[in-house]
Amino acid sequence: MSIIDHVKAKARECLKRIVLPEGDEPRTVQAAAKLLQERLVVPILLGVQEQIQAVAKATGVSLAGAECIDPRTSPKSRDYAQALYELRKDKGVTPEKAAELVQDPMYFGVMMVKVGDADGLVSGAVHSTGDMLRPALQLIKTKPGNKVVSSSFLMDCPNKNLGDKGLLVYSDCVVVPCPTAEELAYIAISAAETARVLCGIKEPKVALLSFSTKGSAKHELVSKVQEATRLAHELAPELALDGELQLDAALVPEVGASKAPGSPVAGHANVLVFPDLQAGNIGYTMTQRIGGATAFAVLQGLAKPCNDLSRGCSVDDIVATVLCTAVQAQA
Ligand code: ACO
Repeated sequence: MSIIDHVKAKARECLKRIVLPEGDEPRTVQAAAKLLQERLVVPILLGVQEQIQAVAKATGVSLAGAECIDPRTSPKSRDYAQALYELRKDKGVTPEKAAELVQDPMYFGVMMVKVGDADGLVSGAVHSTGDMLRPALQLIKTKPGNKVVSSSFLMDCPNKNLGDKGLLVYSDCVVVPCPTAEELAYIAISAAETARVLCGIKEPKVALLSFSTKGSAKHELVSKVQEATRLAHELAPELALDGELQLDAALVPEVGASKAPGSPVAGHANVLVFPDLQAGNIGYTMTQRIGGATAFAVLQGLAKPCNDLSRGCSVDDIVATVLCTAVQAQA
């Protein structure tokens, strides 16, 4: 089953309410109409109702049954401002500033998720990654037991001998530029959870990647990955996880057997943890552009799911991201 079929089937099991702060953006409106029509989630569009409906009309879709909320006139704004003030007063946010912030659909949407009026949020067709991430990081925070928000790319590769029938999870390729060993350990554990929840991979096999395999090279960068592996083992002893491994040792059975004999992961990894954002970002783009894989990003480690879109996203990308968010909200 493809990732999209998997999340579609899961989303249908329990309808979730997903807020879309860019509610009058044309691709978002079309995605919301599709999701409504197929009864996959309950989309909540933020913005001025007349403008949202005008976009629906112009793009030839129906939003009948959709919830539209204007943060500037919503009776909930006052409650959200009060809650935001309580959460951020130690960071210098005044009641006036909180009232101003909730007028911004991004903060309003994040507060809806925070207080449980929505189950998840998807944005980024217009906003940058940083603008989308900051309110979520500040207000929703990390899941209990986790210390870092990161991302996974779900890679569907043409070579079905790789990973789990061609599916590989790459982490982190979006959020943490230069993770510490501890952060890398949490990223590895979050990526395994993403593999289970969104890809239906029952047994994640997590490889912490490096330019060294099991001490073949000595360098402080290698030591960091070794330390991250040790910490991740401590935090999640039940997880099939190993490091440090070179990419070929992680993926190719014969190389894994020769370079890391006895490893529970080497040669069969389906979750690849990159040592930093440069490696992760380059790694996923190479797999996509040179290897012909399809790539799809989600955030992980937040207490409640919020996901970012690329500004070049298509309607189908938004539908897929909303479905992933709904499935993360079930976990
Ligand atoms: N996990 C958990 N909390 C975090 C994280 C994290 N990864 N990063 C920041 N925070 C928290 C901070 O502790 C802080 O909390 P506080 O205000 O309660 O003290 C809050 O979030 C804001 O942190 P800042 O450091 O002020 O946030 P900053 O403005 O530096 O931005 C961001 C954080 C946006 C995630 C930054 O790390 C970043 O720009 N990362 C790279 C994003 C990027 O450009 N990616 C490539 C996109 S391209 C592509 O995706 C394909």
